[in-house]
Amino acid sequence: MTASSQHETHEHDVLIIGAGGAGLRAAIEALAQGARVGVVCKSLLGKAHTVMAEGGLAAAMANLDKEDDWRTHFRDTMRGGKLVNNWRMAQLHAQEAPDRVRELEQWGALFDRTENGEILQRAFGGHTFRRLCHVGDRTGLEMIRTLQDRGVHMGFDVYMECTITKLLKDGDRVAGAFGYWRETGKFVTFKAKSIVIATGGIGKSWKITSNSWECTGDGMALAYEAGAELLDMEFVQFHPTGMVWPPGVQGLLVTEAVRGEGGLLRNKNGERFMEKYDPKKMELSTRDVVARSIYTEVKEGRGSPHGGAFLDISHKPAEYVKRKLPSMYHQFKELADVDITKGPMEVGPTCHYVMGGIRVDAETGRSSVPGLFAAGEAAAGLHGANRLGGNSLSDLIVFGRRAGLAAAEHAKKTAAPTLDNSQIEATEREVLAPFARTSGESPYQIHHDLQEMMQNLVGIFRTDEDLRKALAALEKLKARASKMRVEGSRVFNPGWHLSRDLACMLTISEACTHAALARKESRGAHSRLDFPKSEDVWGAKNHVIVNKGGAMTLFEAQRPEMPAELKQILAEDK
Ligand code: FUM
Repeated sequence: MTASSQHETHEHDVLIIGAGGAGLRAAIEALAQGARVGVVCKSLLGKAHTVMAEGGLAAAMANLDKEDDWRTHFRDTMRGGKLVNNWRMAQLHAQEAPDRVRELEQWGALFDRTENGEILQRAFGGHTFRRLCHVGDRTGLEMIRTLQDRGVHMGFDVYMECTITKLLKDGDRVAGAFGYWRETGKFVTFKAKSIVIATGGIGKSWKITSNSWECTGDGMALAYEAGAELLDMEFVQFHPTGMVWPPGVQGLLVTEAVRGEGGLLRNKNGERFMEKYDPKKMELSTRDVVARSIYTEVKEGRGSPHGGAFLDISHKPAEYVKRKLPSMYHQFKELADVDITKGPMEVGPTCHYVMGGIRVDAETGRSSVPGLFAAGEAAAGLHGANRLGGNSLSDLIVFGRRAGLAAAEHAKKTAAPTLDNSQIEATEREVLAPFARTSGESPYQIHHDLQEMMQNLVGIFRTDEDLRKALAALEKLKARASKMRVEGSRVFNPGWHLSRDLACMLTISEACTHAALARKESRGAHSRLDFPKSEDVWGAKNHVIVNKGGAMTLFEAQRPEMPAELKQILAEDK
């Protein structure tokens, strides 16, 4: 620690913001390159949202289905993403995921096994073969445990319960980050040659969400404010199965592994309604299709008593259900008083994931700001218009490793940056402003209204009228937020923390809404009632959002031409 301003300053070659799967994997790789690495996380180490990814990680290991290979995984990912994916990312992901899984195993991850001792793989929506390596329904937890053990052993510095509120610049390049300790409210500065954003998604902008409290779009907002581009923000995934009852746990994830292990969806008339929407893949259709199907059944009066569908796995032996889905068994028993070995669950769509994020280079995770990298859900490109289940955990380790490597290499070639005290002081003033007001609303009310609005106007089905209403509502919410008031001291003050998170959520919600309004077609998770078809002309375009002199500006970008060999793989009809 050094003292470059009036509060503590830490210096690293590579600073990683976020300690989920992508952040930890990036840290491990940067350490392996000899970089001095710091990892900052809003929560406690080990309590990342990655632990909520339950069903598994997708990798074409071909342990059960011998025909599986990277080509089929690439094709599934591209088709699931409705072809607006960054094809190079989809290629690298499919090619490298098996090695990353084997590496996790060497580092101590205990996957479920086949009878002959290989890693067991299960079926998931949109994957042609059984591809998800898993640990019951607690795969994310095992992944974080493994990566954390490895990283701590290798020796990164970790800064827990620390919220970053600003990326600091030295000219065009990043120079560090400014934040505060959630426990004491004291400020802290980090100086770094490279920064990797790995802060996850933005689910907390919606009322019904599977996301935990950390998922407030911080990293995307920090990067956007620092000049980085955001890509494909219209593509927000609603997982088909969250809990719908009781109200206190509405939205909590019900893993796709329930369907992967044979769970069936029925409406209140007992009909397996997926027959109407995707008779071939049924319950294992892609998430966008299953979520819209459940939504439609409910809207048309065939929903379950609490406004969802029935998901039933009770036809399988009780011992099988408890062994394959231990968390689901306990979750429903303890939270809803339902024994899933005896009867159905009630489930409905829940905001789960954003395919959009920081625009990055496929090979390195480099953003458009020198020294700034991103990986995992905070970055965009791999998943296109709709992510396949299980492709998130593999994304984290494939592109976390690549971003960590590139960040360390960048740091080796770069001189130490200079921190600019005027930027730090301006940020301090901004962060403390809500305390100085003698009147104004609480951030809780504004957050509540944001969530209601995004749920109603920027949800599964969208229209021009609703999206315009949403943009107008966001303007009002931003005006209210600029006058919000926080009471109490800086010590352990959740209202103050929310005031910071809210600023990020408002920025990123606006980006999602702008991009959704601009895409006048339906594609993957983006469903426009007024433009119900996918159009070829839109399939060629991606939306980029950038901060131009304080104004959120959207432009269209074309993807580079796909090489012939990848086109050939896509054309094959498997
Ligand atoms: O359903 C699930 O277990 C979620 C997995 C994912 O989003 O990849």
